[in-house]
Amino acid sequence: MTQYILALDQGTTSSRAILFDHHGRICASAAQEFPQHYPQPGWVEHDPNEIWNSQLTVARKVLHELHVDSAHVRAIGIANQRETTIVWDRKSGEPIAPAIVWQDRRTADYCAQLRADGKARLVADVTGLELDAYFSATKLKWLLDHVPGARERARHGALAFGTIDSWLVYKLTGRHVTDVSNAARTMLFNIHLMRWDQDMLDLFDIPEQMLPQVVSSSEEVGSTREGLFGGAIPVAGIAGDQQAATFGQACHQPGMVKNTYGTGCFMLMHAGRHPVVSHNRLLSTVGWRVDGRTDYLLEGSVFMGGATVQWLRDGLGIIQHSAEVEALAASVPDSGGVVMVPAFVGLGAPHWDPYARGTIVGLTRGSHKGHIARAALEAIAFQSAELLAAMQKDAAIPLTELRADGGAARNDLLMQFQADLLGVPVVRPQVTETTALGAAYLAGLAVGFWDTREEIAAQWQCERRFLPQMGADQRAALLAQWARAVERSRNWET
Ligand code: G3P
Repeated sequence: MTQYILALDQGTTSSRAILFDHHGRICASAAQEFPQHYPQPGWVEHDPNEIWNSQLTVARKVLHELHVDSAHVRAIGIANQRETTIVWDRKSGEPIAPAIVWQDRRTADYCAQLRADGKARLVADVTGLELDAYFSATKLKWLLDHVPGARERARHGALAFGTIDSWLVYKLTGRHVTDVSNAARTMLFNIHLMRWDQDMLDLFDIPEQMLPQVVSSSEEVGSTREGLFGGAIPVAGIAGDQQAATFGQACHQPGMVKNTYGTGCFMLMHAGRHPVVSHNRLLSTVGWRVDGRTDYLLEGSVFMGGATVQWLRDGLGIIQHSAEVEALAASVPDSGGVVMVPAFVGLGAPHWDPYARGTIVGLTRGSHKGHIARAALEAIAFQSAELLAAMQKDAAIPLTELRADGGAARNDLLMQFQADLLGVPVVRPQVTETTALGAAYLAGLAVGFWDTREEIAAQWQCERRFLPQMGADQRAALLAQWARAVERSRNWET
């Protein structure tokens, strides 16, 4: 009987499910978008039940599509949008409030206050993270402060906290766990000692009783509850989506880098067996723990990647479908001096400016929508180039190539411009669903579907290699112009 691994990829805007075979090939896939809620400017919320329902629907759909049942599925692997924070009642299983999404900025002022109080160093030393609203800790504190009685109930063990992985595993199996890669994004986890950190719990006033048990990224944590899929399926792999994508891109050697061009852009470099301390405002984070071994990563996060193209579609209305952006951008030979800084929700690494706002500069009477589309695509590449420059300074390992994935990696014009800006080849793999693939690999390793990392790394195959064609002078001039535009977008919202 042919067997498969079912990967659940719970992202910011959609839930996906993919069945992979032993060769790492996609055999069936399904995706479903779910609603985003913006109750106030700067706030972003999800309904945890909408997340669960959409995820369950697509998981059932792929089994149905391939005419297979639970007996054909050796294990489930989960990759998830990280940091997004849920608190639920242990007894009823119901969330006590909407999930606060990673993009939500409601705790930015509180973070600024903590930074002014000199807490940033301590937080970075323990967690490897910037003291920013992006991470779970201040979101969780906000929920405990604002939902009446919540902190008291949490102290008495009545409430559970979890990121999306915890929530899905709880709904699937009834267990309350999180893996090391997701724990590392909460700002409550000590990435050196690999356990919840008392100083962080005290700083944010979080009762330890509500935290999930931390598990490896590749181990059986439970089996699916009766009635979900017919027979029980082991849940055996969990990782934050960006760590999963790095695993799926087979970045197993120090210095190997992948960039995912999704809602945001997330560039991660394998940093070896110990955390690398960043001196350039990157994040030091846990990659995964497999077979008792922890691998660490260095990460740069850009908040607006492919979402910039969505804005051209939904905000400006200059394209009907995201895929049209490439043709519109290619209708002009260059951006005509137009530069867009898509700081719609502030700037992430390496600037970490929650008060920056979007900017378009260099407009002339000759500028038109083609130039704007081109500038939007170029902005994605410029932001990624900034991440890589910071990474190179931190890691002191010269980059030889960048592995690209995510929806916008299908855009040839963007990939070519990225290679031009970086001065190194950008490589697109045959399977660009590397997030789901990484989750499948982690689950498959745990149940013996695959035996070693080497075996799965050998499955990685290049689809296209984009070689740099731009001269060094032109590259330097463009990067300098970008830096000037970024300065104009910074500290806008006070
Ligand atoms: O840190 C946020 C990240 O995990 C979100 O990923 O793919 O949902 O944009 P994505």
